[in-house]
Amino acid sequence: MQIRLRNLKRNYASLHAVDDVSLDIPSNTVYGIIGRSGAGKSTLVRLVSMLEKPDHGEVYYDDKRVDNLSKEELIKERRKIGMIFQNFNLFSSRNAEDNIAYPMEICHMDKEYIRKRTEELLALVGLEGRGKAAISTLSGGQKQRVAIARALAVKPEILFCDEATSALDPQTTRSILALIKEIQKKMNLTVVMITHQMEVVRDACDRVAVLDAGHIVEEGPVSDIFASPKSDVTKDFLSSLTNVQESIVRWSNDGGHYTLRFRGSTTDEPIISSVSAATGAVFNIRAAGVQNVNDEELGVMITDIGPDSVTAEKAVRLLIEKGVSVEEAE
Ligand SMILES: Nc1ncnc2c1ncn2[C@@H]1O[C@H](COP(=O)(O)OP(=O)(O)O)[C@@H](O)[C@H]1O
Ligand SMILES: [Mg+2]
Repeated sequence: MQIRLRNLKRNYASLHAVDDVSLDIPSNTVYGIIGRSGAGKSTLVRLVSMLEKPDHGEVYYDDKRVDNLSKEELIKERRKIGMIFQNFNLFSSRNAEDNIAYPMEICHMDKEYIRKRTEELLALVGLEGRGKAAISTLSGGQKQRVAIARALAVKPEILFCDEATSALDPQTTRSILALIKEIQKKMNLTVVMITHQMEVVRDACDRVAVLDAGHIVEEGPVSDIFASPKSDVTKDFLSSLTNVQESIVRWSNDGGHYTLRFRGSTTDEPIISSVSAATGAVFNIRAAGVQNVNDEELGVMITDIGPDSVTAEKAVRLLIEKGVSVEEAE
C-alpha cells in the first residue's frame, strides 16, 4: 500500500509540531523517517496512522483519502495498520500467545483459527514454543518480537515502527531490523520506520526522509543521502554515525578538516593519488573506512588537506569533479 501525505500540519497551541509535510511513501518498502527528539516524528505517525486528525492537509492510502473518515470507516481502515513502539506496549497480565491473540479476539475471529495463526506468528518471529512465556520473563528483543507478531496478527498492509529499537542494545537492534526486513518482503508490507538513529536507517531502510522542527529537510534513497548529504541536520546524523562506526579506523584524534564520501564506482579508483599528483595537495588522513549502505559500498575518509588553503581548495574542486562528496568541518 502506498501512502501519500499532502501539506500535513498539526499545531499544539503555538507550536507547529508538524509543519507542512508532503511525502510519497511507496508500497512494499522500508521507509525511514529520522529526526532529533522533538522533531515531530511521533506526531507525524499519529496523523498518518489516523490516531489524530491533522489541522490541515490530507492523508491517502493508495487513492483513498483516510484523514476525514467516519468512525465506522476508520475502524475498518485501521485494520490495515500494525504498530510497534519503543516500550513494546504489551499486556503484562497476558502471556506471549495471549498478547498475540488479542487483536484477533477483538475482531471475534474463530478460536481454532486464532490458535493456528498465533502459532504461525510465533514461528514467524522466531519464538516457537515460547507462547506460554510470561512477558516479564522475556528479554527486550523477545518482547519486541511478541509485539511484532501481535502487530501482524490481522494481516495489516502497513507497519509503523516508532523508535522500535531505541530501547535495545546494538546486537539485538540488528536482529530485530533483520526480522522486520524479512517480514516486509514476505508480506509485501509498507514499513514506516521512525527513528533518531542513523544506524537504523543504514541497516534497514530503502528511502529516508529527514524531519527537523516539523519540516522535511531532505528525502531520497538511503545510499544517495549517505553519499551526498545536503542538510546540516543530515550531516550531523552522519557524523555521529562515523564516530561510532566500527568499520571506520581512526588513527588520530586530531579532528580532520574534511569528510570525503566516495560511492560505488569511485571506491576502486586511486582518486587521492591522482588529485594529489594533479594539484600538489598533501593528504593527512585521520580516519577511513567502508560502509555498506543498502548493499552499496560507500567509502568515508576524514582528512586534512595541505600544504596551504589555496592548494586545498584546488584539491577539493577536483575531488568534487570526480564525484566525491566533500564536507568541511566548521
Ligand atoms: N499532545 C501534545 N500536546 C502538546 N505538545 C505536544 C504533544 N505531542 C507532542 N507535542 C510537542 O510537539 C513536538 C513534537 O513532538 P513529537 O512528535 O513527540 O516529537 P518526536 O517524536 O520527534 O520526538 C514536541 O515539541 C512536543 O513537545
Ligand atoms: Mg517520538
